[in-house]
Amino acid sequence: MTKTDASFDKDRARAFTTKMLGILNDGALSLMMSIGHKTGLFDSMDGDEPSTSTQIASKADLDERYVREWLYAMACGGIIDYDPESETFQLPAEHSGLLTRKAGPLNLTVPMQQIALLGEVEEDLVHVFREGGGLPYDKFPRFQALMSETSERRFRSGLVNQVVPLLDMSDALTAGIDVADVGCGSGLASYLLGKEFPNSRFVGFDMSQDGIAHASKLAQDLDNVSYEIADAAELNQPQRFDLVTTFDAIHDQARPKDALAGIFAMLHPGGTYLCVEPKASSVLEENMQDPMAPFMYTISTMHCMTVSLAYGGDGLGTAWGHQLATEYLTETGFTDIKIEGIRDDRGNNYFISKKP
Ligand SMILES: C[S@@+](CC[C@H](N)C(=O)[O-])C[C@H]1O[C@@H](n2cnc3c(N)ncnc32)[C@H](O)[C@@H]1O
Repeated sequence: MTKTDASFDKDRARAFTTKMLGILNDGALSLMMSIGHKTGLFDSMDGDEPSTSTQIASKADLDERYVREWLYAMACGGIIDYDPESETFQLPAEHSGLLTRKAGPLNLTVPMQQIALLGEVEEDLVHVFREGGGLPYDKFPRFQALMSETSERRFRSGLVNQVVPLLDMSDALTAGIDVADVGCGSGLASYLLGKEFPNSRFVGFDMSQDGIAHASKLAQDLDNVSYEIADAAELNQPQRFDLVTTFDAIHDQARPKDALAGIFAMLHPGGTYLCVEPKASSVLEENMQDPMAPFMYTISTMHCMTVSLAYGGDGLGTAWGHQLATEYLTETGFTDIKIEGIRDDRGNNYFISKKP
């Protein structure tokens, strides 16, 4: 079909041109907003009167020329207000709730950083599109730090107050039980639970040396929390735990079924498994109305799926979905599977199941 064919929909073409320009601009803005987060500019401007670029740069202790160009991009992108008469800029109160550290789990500039992170592997990814295979974790040197910042918001606001009540295990945790977190990353979940429940014992497992080093430092003052470097597919800890958790740590495994079998074996009969995985359907068309779906499939292609494929793995992808996850849990032997959610983590499903 060409532009001269009668069936060519010119309105559709025009609308798509607008959409494409929006994508180009928004892609550029996402990089600039990530910089606004990292440099602390959004936090520094929050609540301030209209200010010049010199005042803003001076307050944030940054180079004025860069700050001015950044402010121009933010003003043109509708992120920050600009008054041409006074040549001043202001962060609107209506916007700061999504842009500043005080916004906690709502601060969208934290996931925005992933766009820049993924850009670092674009060339390598083009290569594996052609040749197959995947990109291992060492291609993402900043991954653990960013994952830790992303998870921190939801763990700090939701873990003790929203997740523990879902498990109905507050009394057991208070009395003292054994808990494992598999694929613990930088270990914050075990640390927070360890502080809250001093009579229980917590062990975090991850294959990332960076993650375990960070975690061990974090929890050095807690006697009831420890971390071990381990491949989740080769855990050999039979009937040692009452509760096992995984937070976003199954779908990017090379051997997710082996990891689930290991988790099953780790639990005492009657033990509980909390498996937190991205909220998605296994059916593409059921994800298409999800406003975060393009982002999710991008993260999947450029990180979660490719790291799994790098180790010869299944490459489930971020959006492997609740249907397939339920199938995997059932096949492993877990029963009484419930899918829950929490207020401060809208992007994930919380699968709670039992070992009979
Ligand atoms: C998406 S991150 C989640 C980290 C952490 N649970 C959180 O929510 O912040 C997935 C984690 O799984 C770990 N992981 C991936 N494959 C693994 C394997 N085979 N054995 C152990 N850990 C693994 C990664 O190193 C990474 O820390």
